[in-house]
Amino acid sequence: MPKTFFIRTMGCQMNVADSDFMSEKLHNAGYKKCNDMHKADIIIANTCTVRQHAEERAFSFIGELKQLKIKNKKLKIFVAGCVASRLKEKLKKKFPYIDKIIPATEIENFSEIVKDTVNITPKNPKTKNSNNKGTEFVTITKGCSNFCSYCVVPFVRGDEISRPKKDILADVKKLISRGRNEITLLGQNVNSYKFGKFDFADLLIELNKIPQIKKIGFMTSHPKDMSDKIINAIASCKKVTRQIHLPLQSGSNKILKLMNRKYTRGKYLKIIKKLRKKIPGVAITTDIIVGFPTETEKDFRQTLDIIKKVGFKSAFTFKYSPRENTKAFYMKDDIPAEIKKERLARLNAIFYNSI
Ligand code: 5AD
Ligand code: SF4
Repeated sequence: MPKTFFIRTMGCQMNVADSDFMSEKLHNAGYKKCNDMHKADIIIANTCTVRQHAEERAFSFIGELKQLKIKNKKLKIFVAGCVASRLKEKLKKKFPYIDKIIPATEIENFSEIVKDTVNITPKNPKTKNSNNKGTEFVTITKGCSNFCSYCVVPFVRGDEISRPKKDILADVKKLISRGRNEITLLGQNVNSYKFGKFDFADLLIELNKIPQIKKIGFMTSHPKDMSDKIINAIASCKKVTRQIHLPLQSGSNKILKLMNRKYTRGKYLKIIKKLRKKIPGVAITTDIIVGFPTETEKDFRQTLDIIKKVGFKSAFTFKYSPRENTKAFYMKDDIPAEIKKERLARLNAIFYNSI
């Protein structure tokens, strides 16, 4: 019987890509992925800490594993991702049965980190780690240097680094050789990708030329870096998605400034206008946070107003959650929980009604 691993992925697409990476390493070492954690020899929790609630979900999952470890002493438990980055060895104090901590920033060293607990020597590196997903993730930037004032990502994933063009093209070639033809370019802010003079627009144009590639998606975009050059590149590259995720966060200029987003509602609306003009049929989705410190009813109405103006296809909506180290953490979390809840409900009502 081959040894098996179970992996639970929480959070964003970056974690999904990191889980794919770890799965491939284990697969190459002869481990088989299994869907029942009760039968696994290795359990990996790939965690998210973007909001307190996400971190609590990670804790509750890791907590559940205690009983499994008691029943099976040989079980190996790895905790990866952003909670691992944030708390590092402190996690072991809380959950002493964790075997390895793999911070998101150290994912490349996965094999090295776990090698004394599991046999990670490649056995069948040529076999493909098959999955049936439509698209394959290709990371183009790691980390984030934007420091939006509410966001913990720059602290847990480090500074933004653009991967060399040749490494990205090599990844794409590898996927093609496995018969894949749809890719999604990943980064916290793909629009600011830049390697030497080669930027995100250049990358889209280059990938669009590859005959075997049929579909190119990307996420996430940042409005401050959505340049005319990028909009034109999307418009001219027919394989590039007509679906753009463009987080707005708030419709109030005051709140946008406090969030350190570096654009105004006017600039956001201008980008939307350009996108709709140059890319007919484009679908725009977004992220919104309600209850950021000092958000008044008037600020919130500005958000409702811009949402109606834009006509988003859908949105991820969140209640503001203070995160340690961030700039906003040092502001008073002054919007009462019930107001956050009420604003979130009003916001969601717009989206449910428009779908
Ligand atoms: N509180 C609430 N939502 C947050 N996000 C990021 N940090 C926080 C926070 N502290 C949201 C943003 C981001 C999405 C991935 O998560 O909307 O775009
Ligand atoms: Fe966080 Fe802002 Fe970076 Fe997105 S762009 S990961 S919200 S700091």
